[in-house]
Amino acid sequence: MNEHLTVVDHPLVQHKLTLMRDKGTSTASFRQLLREITQLLAYEVTREMPLTTRTIETPLEEMEAPILAGKKLALVSILRAGNGMLDGVLELVPSARVGFVGLYRDEETLQPVQYYFKVPEGLQDRLVIAVDPMLATGNSSAAAVDLLKQAGATDIRFLCLLAAPEGVARMKEAHPDVPIVTASLDRALNSKGYIMPGLGDAGDRMFGTK
Ligand code: URA
Repeated sequence: MNEHLTVVDHPLVQHKLTLMRDKGTSTASFRQLLREITQLLAYEVTREMPLTTRTIETPLEEMEAPILAGKKLALVSILRAGNGMLDGVLELVPSARVGFVGLYRDEETLQPVQYYFKVPEGLQDRLVIAVDPMLATGNSSAAAVDLLKQAGATDIRFLCLLAAPEGVARMKEAHPDVPIVTASLDRALNSKGYIMPGLGDAGDRMFGTK
């Protein structure tokens, strides 16, 4: 991926995103929409997975047919909201390994604090896709990517639903080698670190907490 930021402007993505932003959307619909959008975004973030060919026989003749090359996928959910994006990707790539990074945002400093880290072995040989719906300040995203690099990952992508310009800039400064794929680049962060216009607290909306 050459671009640092890819905004997926496909009409289905944009339509579903509007439904998700709407505060009247139920928890069940929000969760379902997130899963569906994630699949569409996953299509984009996996676009450059290497292919090889395999000789197969169709009912009519033999052919050299494209098939994914050996490079394995590791999906890493940035807790807790990242979990809402796991199933969508796993439906497309069921053999992916899954890791979790637990970081919470200190409400006052907005800085990330780590409380959990468990990732598959052999990250250096995998395409690693970190998922978190909201790229806000970028502090926790950059910290999560730091941890993944410390664990050996070299080929990392960041998949989110919404990005704020501040978060994109922070990621570009800290991890220019990590492409970001998102459904929207929103206007800005507010004073509490929420993305505007955004969709509110993604974790609360998908899990029905508040
Ligand atoms: N996390 C969220 O869930 N929402 C935001 O707007 C920013 C961070």
